[in-house]
Amino acid sequence: MTDQTRETAHTKPLRVVIGVGGGIAAFKAAHLVRFFAEAGHDVRVIPTRSALNFVGAATFEALSGNPVSAEVFDRIDEVQHVRLGQEADLIVIAPATADLLARLAHGRADDLLTSSCLVATCPVVVAPAMHTEMWNHPATQDNVETLRRHGTVVIEPAHGRLTGKDSGPGRLPDPDHIGELALAALDQPEAFRRDLVGKKVLISAGGTHEPLDPVRFLGNASSGRQGYALADVAAQRGAEVTIVSGFTEELPVPSGASIVRVKTARDMLTAMTEQAKEADVVIMAAAVADYRPATVAGSKLKKGSAADLTRIELEENPDILKSIVQQREAGDLPAELTIVGFAAETGDEEHTPLEHATVKLAKKGCDALVANAVGQDKVFGQKVSSGWVLLPQDEQPEPRIIEIPEASKLVVSVAIWNAIADNLLS
Ligand code: CTP
Repeated sequence: MTDQTRETAHTKPLRVVIGVGGGIAAFKAAHLVRFFAEAGHDVRVIPTRSALNFVGAATFEALSGNPVSAEVFDRIDEVQHVRLGQEADLIVIAPATADLLARLAHGRADDLLTSSCLVATCPVVVAPAMHTEMWNHPATQDNVETLRRHGTVVIEPAHGRLTGKDSGPGRLPDPDHIGELALAALDQPEAFRRDLVGKKVLISAGGTHEPLDPVRFLGNASSGRQGYALADVAAQRGAEVTIVSGFTEELPVPSGASIVRVKTARDMLTAMTEQAKEADVVIMAAAVADYRPATVAGSKLKKGSAADLTRIELEENPDILKSIVQQREAGDLPAELTIVGFAAETGDEEHTPLEHATVKLAKKGCDALVANAVGQDKVFGQKVSSGWVLLPQDEQPEPRIIEIPEASKLVVSVAIWNAIADNLLS
């Protein structure tokens, strides 16, 4: 299996319609076509008339291997305006302009794309892109609300540089990312339920680096993907999200999330403690180094110098998760704060990963623990994951266990948020 099919578990080809609105980001739709076409899916591109002012039909035809039209009156013999929408397994529209959102919300059918959406019974995923003022306009927000009420998935736009000199919410997210979100919507209809509106979510992600000298550090192989995916799903479900990020792979900042970058465990503790005061939910997904070098040299340690580099003296780092739980118990953080930890376990001769996680849940005192069985090439740095959510049960020694089957870290994040929302926030 290729990385992408493994990640999405869609080994059977899907019929995917990609709608393209007439905005400057229309060129990014070419990457989205590639995302689906290269995974073996049958892609039909339906641009609006104005999209064809930005990207020619030839580009989309070459990339999808299928004819491209914007018009209801082309290929009448094939009844395209009904057939394409009816037969689609998934419709993804990127970019969706303010005008296109308005037409979709009001059930217009004045071109091939909108008429296809009107007959479709499959998931429709819309990625808006426009200037911030247009996005924030009550008319657009009402249209988004209407579309969501109709069951359309509207992806939150990314923050960043827009067409002119301005920047703010309104950028089209990375096309691969739109593709992953669309597949998550297809797999799990509840992925985008808006149950976190009004909630402030704080997530730590990535690994910490503990310096030894200006060029060396103790670190770990965390990619940050799981934490970022949790942030992404939370933002799509309506939460205000802050990520306290250690070192990660190069990952796009999820749409709508703000980010605080830290290096060491002690920096992370400071940032998390500060941000947790405002939060409703804290998730410690970061891989925090348990120990740091006791001394940090001001200049590069040289081979054969007085310092014995074969032995590094270590001292213990703070346990951030435990500290947040203790601060809540002491009344320094709100009593209603929900605290979720992670546990990366390999298991050993005596205990399974799940048994270790059960002990860890009690030790940390958090409200839920997400446990993964890790190992070489398993979970850390990978795009897929699996595991369990452990929930303490009143007056019972054993936690309740919700199993999370293997899936992309995005789909796993949906399952984790379902477990948190259903059991701890309702
Ligand atoms: N954690 C933390 N501070 C640390 C170490 C871990 O907040 N100094 C958090 C992690 O972010 C995770 C949870 O504690 O949410 C469990 O981390 P893990 O590395 O699995 O466990 P440890 O506490 O380090 O215990 P051990 O290494 O013995 O398994």
